[in-house]
Amino acid sequence: MCGIVAYIGQKHARDILLEGLKRLEYRGYDSAGIATLEQSRGTQVMQVTRAVGRVANLQTAVDAAGGHLGSAGIAHTRWATHGGVTEKNAHPHRDDGVHGHGIAIIHNGIIENYASVKKYLEEKGHTFTSETDTEVLAHLIGELYRGDLEKAVQAALREVTGAYAIAVLCEKEPDVLVVARKGSPLMIGVGNGEFVVASDASAIVAHTTQAVMLADYSVARITRESFRSTTVDNVPLTSEIRELEFDLEQIELGEFEHFMLKEIFEQPRALRMTLQGRINARTGEITLGGVGEHARKLANARKIVLVGSGTALHACMVTSYLMEDLAKTPTDYDFASEFRYRNPIVEDGTVVIAVSQSGETADTLSALQEAKQRGAMALGIVNVVGSSIARETDAGVYLRVGPEIGVASTKAFTGQVMVGAMLAAYIGRRRYLSNDYVTSFLKELSEIPDKIERVLASSEAIATATAKYIHRENWLFLGRGVNYPVALEGALKLKEISYIHAEGMPAAEMKHGPIALIDEGMPVVFVATRNSQYEKVLANIEEVRARGGHVIAVATEGDEYIKTLAKEVFYVPECPEQLQPLLTVVPLQLLAYHAAVMRGKDVDKPRNLAKSVTVE
Ligand code: M6R
Repeated sequence: MCGIVAYIGQKHARDILLEGLKRLEYRGYDSAGIATLEQSRGTQVMQVTRAVGRVANLQTAVDAAGGHLGSAGIAHTRWATHGGVTEKNAHPHRDDGVHGHGIAIIHNGIIENYASVKKYLEEKGHTFTSETDTEVLAHLIGELYRGDLEKAVQAALREVTGAYAIAVLCEKEPDVLVVARKGSPLMIGVGNGEFVVASDASAIVAHTTQAVMLADYSVARITRESFRSTTVDNVPLTSEIRELEFDLEQIELGEFEHFMLKEIFEQPRALRMTLQGRINARTGEITLGGVGEHARKLANARKIVLVGSGTALHACMVTSYLMEDLAKTPTDYDFASEFRYRNPIVEDGTVVIAVSQSGETADTLSALQEAKQRGAMALGIVNVVGSSIARETDAGVYLRVGPEIGVASTKAFTGQVMVGAMLAAYIGRRRYLSNDYVTSFLKELSEIPDKIERVLASSEAIATATAKYIHRENWLFLGRGVNYPVALEGALKLKEISYIHAEGMPAAEMKHGPIALIDEGMPVVFVATRNSQYEKVLANIEEVRARGGHVIAVATEGDEYIKTLAKEVFYVPECPEQLQPLLTVVPLQLLAYHAAVMRGKDVDKPRNLAKSVTVE
């Protein structure tokens, strides 16, 4: 989604801002812009340059424009919501016109009441050049400006509803940068005589690892020397400077061609981090610091509801199987966006678990807030430390898989399932499970990273097999039981990065309709590992073969029989049925990756998509 970088310090803001925007590119965007403040003939001038398309286009436009030499500036990548993808709609927006004070603003989020504010401003003589809600906010700040930018921003934010993260500069106060947030992330990197503000730590870590996570509904006034934060009602707030928990290497490609491939290959190491210090595979002990205080409440929960979106929802589905199997607690899962609006029944003893990589997904955050309002205990399974969802929950477990840059979620999925498995065993042990059972379960869990390494070794073979089918525009992905969500995930991965139409479904559902799609040579991917449903899946494979479909199977090492049925077989090591998704998803991630590369697609930045979806 949209990205924010802002700078105030001693250096040229332009270089820092453009580099920061490049680091935010992975979030997905369609236009970009920059504003810098500099002295010209004794007065401060705001120079704004915007461009449609990639940050590289903005760089070219900035080079052509010249200037941009100031040491304070704001920059933005926009993912269109209000108004089309045009230069006029790109940020920064200014409060131009007769009422103008030389204010420029960048904004993530949506100002929900912008139409009524716009009407009010138009009546006062303001005119607008874009279709955006952000330009309305720029004018509102201008309208309320009485010589103090911080106060004008506070006053404007008291008038608007919706979600935002903003950064604002004003020609009349060249030594002040004002930033604010509500429901959309923003952090202030604290350097030596400089501050770098960004919506995402990846735009900060090249400059400093000391940062303040701006509290929700707060405003910060930043100068080159210091900063202070207040509520929108000007009540002072205290801010804690924290060490950001990742380094530059984690957000650079290294030897890999794409972040997605890097992140697929990072899974063994990432999952070892997920497990580290949390499980003891010799004693059966599980230590989940984030939920320790709530262990009794969790064990006594009458119902668990897992909510998430996209890949995270698929992790919820796998986790629900694990919860019912190990914890024996009735467990449901739901699309966060549906849960929120279907008047859900939340009875006493309900625990709602929000699953999210970014911790900023608006649908998931709203579902969580709704659940809390209805009295549920709220837990999070989140990757980004200090994110909105992490902060809204009563307790939770972080994934610890490191930053995920590729838009297609990979290591976050396996991290989410891994945490779900630990949590299920943790609750199960406090209910019915024997120590022996948990000990052997944890031993299996601890072997997963090594087993994923074995699957990764077949990446080239998977590429060779995939090459035969990339011209096919329709694929099916089928699985049963705990591998049904894996089928959904395989289809999602393929469609989102290669733009091939793919559907995932329970294997048995195929004969209730979708079987009509199968024709000669249609690729049908089966998750067909040895487990309680293996024989049933073989029967479904026969149904596809009988209609000319080409079967691609993910199977258990040593299964020679499946070779007689499938055109291609991707093997995974043996493991207990409940944990199979941690292995079976990996060949499907690789299949999608290789298909997208061979079709010449922008794997890390697929069209129309954003890494973190902060609008409902
Ligand atoms: O950050 P989240 O895990 O909450 O994101 C949820 C989905 O938007 C995300 O998983 C999306 O489906 C991915 N692009 C899938 O690869």
